[in-house]
Amino acid sequence: MSRSSAPEHTPIQTNRWSLAGSTALVTGGSKGIGYAIVEELARLGSAVHTCARSQADLEKCLQQLRDSKLNVTGSVCDVSSPSEREKLMATVKSQFDGKLNILVNNAGTAVYKPAVEQTMEDFKLLISTNLESAFHLSQLAYPLLKACGGGSIVFITSISGLIAQDNLSVYASTKGAMNQLTRNLACEWARDNIRTNSVAPGYIKTPLTELLLEDEEFVARENHRVPLGRWGEPEDVAGVVAFLCLPPSCYVNGQKWHALSYPLSSISTGSLLSENRSMSSVQEHAPIDTNRWSLAGTTALVTGGSKGIGYAIVEELARLGSAVHTCARSEADLEKCLQKWRDSKLKVTGSVCDVSSPSEREKLMATVKSQFDGKLNILVNNAGTVVCKPTVDQTLEDFKLVISTNLESAFHLSQLAYPLLRACGGGSIVFITSISGFIGQDYLSVYGSSKGAINQLTRNLACEWAKDNIRTNSVAPGFIKTPLVDFLVQDEEFVARENHRVPLGRLGEPEDVAGVVAFLCLPPSCYVNGQVIVVDGGRIANGNH
Ligand SMILES: NC(=O)c1ccc[n+]([C@@H]2O[C@H](COP(=O)([O-])OP(=O)(O)OC[C@H]3O[C@@H](n4cnc5c(N)ncnc54)[C@H](OP(=O)(O)O)[C@@H]3O)[C@@H](O)[C@H]2O)c1
Repeated sequence: MSRSSAPEHTPIQTNRWSLAGSTALVTGGSKGIGYAIVEELARLGSAVHTCARSQADLEKCLQQLRDSKLNVTGSVCDVSSPSEREKLMATVKSQFDGKLNILVNNAGTAVYKPAVEQTMEDFKLLISTNLESAFHLSQLAYPLLKACGGGSIVFITSISGLIAQDNLSVYASTKGAMNQLTRNLACEWARDNIRTNSVAPGYIKTPLTELLLEDEEFVARENHRVPLGRWGEPEDVAGVVAFLCLPPSCYVNGQKWHALSYPLSSISTGSLLSENRSMSSVQEHAPIDTNRWSLAGTTALVTGGSKGIGYAIVEELARLGSAVHTCARSEADLEKCLQKWRDSKLKVTGSVCDVSSPSEREKLMATVKSQFDGKLNILVNNAGTVVCKPTVDQTLEDFKLVISTNLESAFHLSQLAYPLLRACGGGSIVFITSISGFIGQDYLSVYGSSKGAINQLTRNLACEWAKDNIRTNSVAPGFIKTPLVDFLVQDEEFVARENHRVPLGRLGEPEDVAGVVAFLCLPPSCYVNGQVIVVDGGRIANGNH
């Protein structure tokens, strides 16, 4: 572990939570999730074009959005038709002067039937509407995204692409295909600075699922399955999509975000419909809350905030309005940081604490409790250490140091924070894990194990504490330029090899991680629970190295 003194930090840009000046195409924006995405992007400053098949529904939506002074246009298009897709992209091209920053492939349909009853027509409809349209529109958008110097593609897939659900075999296959397409485009187009990710919602209340919502038994069973105890709302998905288009997500590539935590087993949809998707006309939409991209009035504890990723997280949360307490072992480093934050008028305090010590963790939480009147909204377990040695050379002391600093501290601090989070009526816990918790890396067996353990702990706490409205997620960075990995960053050969492995062609910066952590604490992430979000520029999605 590096004990170098606090490095100079570039201050985090304040306008990075805005889409002002960008252009976006969102398919299927007249209802449900698509409507919410259009509204969310437009509220963040994007000029948005959308499409739907029904002119009447589309017109009604455009009027609602124009009444809210949002910059949204639309045209009729059936995305299952190749020629209509071409026409749509020609409209977008001329409207946005050949430049598109964001493509959201949202339009989709479902046919609920047992596999043996699905006809070739059903199959073709689902493939052309869900998969072929997403593939072809991405191809057509490619030159427009390139013309901006890069951009963001988001596919709306589904948890059906990950788990078995009765009566959804073809629908699920289209979503599984899109999940894989995400990884392929993420690697192939990263060189053009085009990031590709997908968002996989659970059950969301939209016209697509309204017939399911009429089945009280089904709804009750689902509410019981979902740790947060409710169905999702369209804006729960829209917030995640918007985040994937915002600058703070710039190192997230090739990932699949779930808009809920789910056991990976089969789910029976019971006595389901045998009709095509519901075609109900557009419903009234509650406007999206404009303050939801702020942490004003919240309190946070971030461990290990004097350097690297922790420093950037403290600054990001504080810039979004949170009052933050942080800790580190070196008092000198901590004081230097606190002075900088005071100079920037950020509300940050700190105290010395070695998180590997149980008694020091208790003292830290007592300080936090008294400072924030017993209430804590956010806990970020960031402090961590690494011992990089061949497995046979790792001593029991190395093992104890890594486990107590990384895993035991995260577990114990979460326990200690629990009453303070509950006292707020809920909150957000974020663990900083690592891609080392997913993949084998030389000399990192103990470190990797500590991170793998936290990835699993994430899922357990997410399920156990959701009843208290406490969400738990992890962020798993790739290589990020911090003092922890200074010895590697100095190694030119290593950096060249890594840059080749990472589709985005660079190592990460601390603020690339901080933005994702902050998002997981913001209201738009309120239906993301039990997830491990990889922030690695697409490194572990890349099979080409
Ligand atoms: N950098 C990467 O490539 C990378 C990749 C994946 C995951 N991560 C994870 O990200 C987290 C932060 O890493 P980083 O790269 O930002 O590390 P870093 O640059 O070394 O900073 C670590 C911070 O944590 C503090 N800290 C370390 N041990 C502590 C302890 N026992 N008690 C209290 N504070 C402690 C340090 O201050 P003091 O030294 O003064 O205590 C410092 O503020 C870690 O969990 C790490 O495993 C990093």
